Amino acid sequence: MPLMSLFGSKGRLVLSTFLLYAIIFELAYCQNDAQEQRTSLGKKANKPKLGKATNKGPRAVTTKPKVKTTAAQAQTFLTQVLNRGKFTKVGDTISIQAGDTLELRCRGKPVHWGVPLYLEEDDDGRLKIVQHERYGVLTLVNTTGADTGEYTCYPMYCEDTDCRKEYDKAVKVFVFFPDPQELFVPSSDYYEVIQLRTNWPTVLPCQVTSPEAKVTLHREFPPVEVVVDGTEISFNVKKGFTIHRPRPYHAGALYCVASLGNLRQSSTKYMLIYVNYPMAPPAPVIQASTSSVAVGENLRVSCTAVGEPNVAIEITWEYPGQEIGRPLYTQDGVSPVSGGAARQQTQSVLLVDEVRDVDQGTYTCTAQNLQGAKSVSTNVKVVPKTKPKKP
Ligand SMILES: *[C@@H]1O[C@H](CO)[C@@H](O)[C@H](O)[C@H]1NC(C)=O
Repeated sequence: MPLMSLFGSKGRLVLSTFLLYAIIFELAYCQNDAQEQRTSLGKKANKPKLGKATNKGPRAVTTKPKVKTTAAQAQTFLTQVLNRGKFTKVGDTISIQAGDTLELRCRGKPVHWGVPLYLEEDDDGRLKIVQHERYGVLTLVNTTGADTGEYTCYPMYCEDTDCRKEYDKAVKVFVFFPDPQELFVPSSDYYEVIQLRTNWPTVLPCQVTSPEAKVTLHREFPPVEVVVDGTEISFNVKKGFTIHRPRPYHAGALYCVASLGNLRQSSTKYMLIYVNYPMAPPAPVIQASTSSVAVGENLRVSCTAVGEPNVAIEITWEYPGQEIGRPLYTQDGVSPVSGGAARQQTQSVLLVDEVRDVDQGTYTCTAQNLQGAKSVSTNVKVVPKTKPKKP
């Protein structure tokens, strides 16, 4: 009879005291464990990152009699409780008819549960989480299509009362709650504004409640179905549509349509607004007309940053005279860069007329775009007037 190492130290304590009782107890308990174990073995490939120590299947209790197994060493299990005493190891996704109860059981002491954001924020008493000695149970009753989403079990690693989630041992399952009335997970907004950033994947989160629904993407004006080729735009039943490398022509009002049986429904509208988005923060270059300037002469400090066309770069200055409120002026401009790929140069020139002693020090320019900011500095020394009146 194979036993799991997980079988608690408590059981063996009983064994030494009431031998006979304990054997019966273990056999009974073991059957349950073995069943869970078996169902899990068949689907191992689906399971993300198993704990390596216990990934060897069932084993006899006699092999490691003194090991006190903690949640950290144990394999993470996520099982769906079908009805009393019946478990099934969950795969990547499961479907539960809206209205039915979701019950998930996850091995570990303790475990932490992650649920769809809407459930976390809007607790109306339907979600119940109970921690038993060796496993946690999540129960969600009176379910609706809106409960569709990812449910995650994180085993906790505890030292005394200090516990932390073991992210690498988390087990996730995506649960669909097919709802005969709602093909899309309802949204509280009539429309949603989404920024399309140059070359950054954009998701249209039209989440269906049933994995069987056929989903298409549509443009409102002109009214056409958008081609989903899997490369430029792809669909994932757990996520919605992704526009992988947004371009200006992707902008506009779009919506999804789901059909299943006789039902055909439209999703929330997505207003896609195209934003020229830089690939990286700017890399400014600073240069002073001279590193050593005489009192009374003029100084120019220029700051230039080259970037994508139509992507704004803002340049700001810090200079020594700032503290005493010395007013300085800048000449700013944007010009195309000749040759090669389309680039543009943003330049700001700080003009210091009739340099005084207070102008000596560090000049810093900061160039900023939507991705971030970068500063560069240069030092300028102020020297006494050249050639005093004496011959
Ligand atoms: C679930 O629905 C039933 C029937 O409508 C209701 O009596 C019960 O209070 C609901 N339970 C919760 C926790 O909302």
